[in-house]
Amino acid sequence: MANAVPVVDDIAYEDLLVDPYPAFRRIRDTAPAVLVKTANLIVVTRFEDIAKIERDPATYSADNPASLVNRVMGPTFMRKDGAEHAVGRKAIEPSFRASTIKEHWAPLFSDICRNLIDSFSETGEVDLFPALAAPMASLCLMQMLGFKDVSWETLALWSQSLIDGAANYSRDAEIDRKAMVAGKGVDDAIDAVLDYHLAHPNPTIMSSMAHADQPMAIEEIRANIKVIIGGGLNEPRDAILTLALGLLGNPAQRTAVLARPELWPTALEEAVRWISPIGMYPRRVARSIDLSGVALAEGTQIGLCVGAANRDERRFADPDRFDILRPKQSHLAFGAGPHFCAGAWVSRHLVGKVAVPMLFERLRNLRLQEDNAPVIRGWVFRGPVSMPVRWDA
Ligand code: HEM
Repeated sequence: MANAVPVVDDIAYEDLLVDPYPAFRRIRDTAPAVLVKTANLIVVTRFEDIAKIERDPATYSADNPASLVNRVMGPTFMRKDGAEHAVGRKAIEPSFRASTIKEHWAPLFSDICRNLIDSFSETGEVDLFPALAAPMASLCLMQMLGFKDVSWETLALWSQSLIDGAANYSRDAEIDRKAMVAGKGVDDAIDAVLDYHLAHPNPTIMSSMAHADQPMAIEEIRANIKVIIGGGLNEPRDAILTLALGLLGNPAQRTAVLARPELWPTALEEAVRWISPIGMYPRRVARSIDLSGVALAEGTQIGLCVGAANRDERRFADPDRFDILRPKQSHLAFGAGPHFCAGAWVSRHLVGKVAVPMLFERLRNLRLQEDNAPVIRGWVFRGPVSMPVRWDA
């Protein structure tokens, strides 16, 4: 008979935000699924269990009518299963094709990155978060969406407010209010360009949605654009900083990748394994099941903690170490199964082929500031929130 879900009640929430990895290790070693009291959630942290879950969407459903994502953003395909999910996924697919990335997004991403680095390259020191990573991720997403006359700061604020609203389990009224204001801003930005994209088919996500074989209702367009704003900005931003951090902290690996540029894609994969920008995402248990010896009752909400699974020593040797030369193993940073990240290839290009290579090529003797260490935070979403650097200007 399967065991009951064990409870861990002595992990402080702040510890999860500052450095979740010791807690992740403890939870992984405790059981396949553990109720983490401070988060009030059952989390799954072992690599093989999450891989198994993602192969079985009939049992572990992404469809959750009670989800805060649905409440804050509306009816999105990301929180649907089967055919309903597939229709939405197919609608946005033209914007994410390899040929679209190569022909349309790659040159735009390079221009955006060049301009940003030009704007500070003479200064000799910046915080890479506001100077490069945040505007790069925001401006690239803006191009992909097909928005006009929205500043990168506004898009970044909308993204953060929507994410906060979707994670507002304590129902803080101010967080809810900000999410609603952001939602209204996104709706207005969509209204401002929808007719243009209907009249002029183009590679943007707005255009793909507007011209989908199975047309999306306006409320679906609104919800799905919000999901993409919530999920497509902070993650490449965090991946840019994490990859840069990994290389700045490991001079031999930095030398290796600069000498052999074909290693950049591997370096990006290792960065998002090491510190996964999305540390956890939810599923709903659709029928009572035994998960590797632990009983999960129908209707239970679980968190798939890919940030922990990507450091599972059962799969990755010396998992806490950033090592671009480690034996090749797939990871879960982009999820798995039907909901595998739609933006994975775009992000691989943006981060691993444009932003971080250009940063290291352009800024001579780039280094962390000895007196001003980077700060990394979060566990559901995790990444550097400040990363001051210097170089020889
Ligand atoms: C390093 C960057 C990124 C990481 C680590 C990442 C990670 C993920 C993960 C873990 C999921 C699965 C979530 C779930 O199943 O609940 C996901 C889904 C998704 N991502 Fe990303 N993401 C990144 C960048 C992007 C970008 C740039 C976009 C769009 C421009 C994007 C669009 C999406 C969409 C639309 C989904 C939902 C897919 C579906 O439900 O079928 N992502 N992402």
